[in-house]
Amino acid sequence: MAAENFSSTYRCPSNIALVKYWGKKAGGIQWPANPSISITLNDLFAETTVSLSGKNTSGKPQFTFLFDHQPKPSFEPKLTQFFDRIWEQLPVVREYALAIKTQNNFPHGTGIASSAAGFGALACCLVDLQSTLLGKDFDVQLASSIARLGSGSACRSLFAEPAIWGIHPQIEGSNDDFAIPLQSPVSRNLSGLMDAVLIIDAGEKSVSSTQGHDLLNNNPYSAARYSVATQHLAQICEAFHQGDVNQFIHIVEHEALQLHAMMMLSNPYFILMRPGTLAVIEQVWQFRKETGIPLMFTLDAGANVHLLFPAAHKTAVTNFIEKQLLLYCQNEQYFCTETGKAPTKLV
Ligand code: DP6
Repeated sequence: MAAENFSSTYRCPSNIALVKYWGKKAGGIQWPANPSISITLNDLFAETTVSLSGKNTSGKPQFTFLFDHQPKPSFEPKLTQFFDRIWEQLPVVREYALAIKTQNNFPHGTGIASSAAGFGALACCLVDLQSTLLGKDFDVQLASSIARLGSGSACRSLFAEPAIWGIHPQIEGSNDDFAIPLQSPVSRNLSGLMDAVLIIDAGEKSVSSTQGHDLLNNNPYSAARYSVATQHLAQICEAFHQGDVNQFIHIVEHEALQLHAMMMLSNPYFILMRPGTLAVIEQVWQFRKETGIPLMFTLDAGANVHLLFPAAHKTAVTNFIEKQLLLYCQNEQYFCTETGKAPTKLV
């Protein structure tokens, strides 16, 4: 088959951070100000196909882009920036025009971040095409580094294990360019967590990630935040390994609240929670106290709530959500997913 007819299709999951990436480091492109860790959300994914559609002799990236079978001009500036950033690293982008088609399996307008899944899938396709052309094996480290240049959190979507991104003095191999899988085994009581994503507000976020990261630059509390996040990462790795559920819950919830606190402490300031977010948090604390079930919350940079719990408690947690939490969810929407799957090559 002529190279011009090559194509690659990947399914890549989204991820939820347990220790948050919030703030970028000067001196590199898309370097995080502190290290973070996340788990993948198996059933919230993007599926992307990249086809080579002829030679590129223009000296700049050439691509077409369809999202859900439709052109999406609003995504093009971000894609152009991405292709400019990877131009030197990936000969396939210099040599070929690319046709990109992508879709998410979760509905639009739910406030679920799609850039991690989208750039994760796109990076996998590009690295796969390049490996095929050069007759090499797929390089997950390269794919993670390429995904990072699209969206920082995307670099953590490429691993089945919890993924660590950003330099940590006690974690060997950790670095700012790409994520690495957690090296020590995860204890049985913290492996196979589930995530129920409660859609509290399906609207557009009041602060984009890009703006949010920027706000840390002039925030007098940011140095302290980066230092605490670095400590949290060491502690959560230990908790994962030891199966210390209480310590794990403490860090996960503290991280979520610190992310939101940083936005309240910024100038301009933002409150990203909605009343329903707070009501759910209070109910979760009450439920945990009454049942002893290790149900915990985390948050993205928005109002939606992610509820994490061990799969063994799925029935009890689902009953709790449906009886007591759906009233806080817009159109009673929530999505429940297993975690811990790597991207898969579909074609
Ligand atoms: C709150 O990865 O979306 O979800 O690198 O600018 O694309 P860019 O930002 P992005 O930031 C994600 C921030 C977060 C926390 C996290 O995923 O660690």
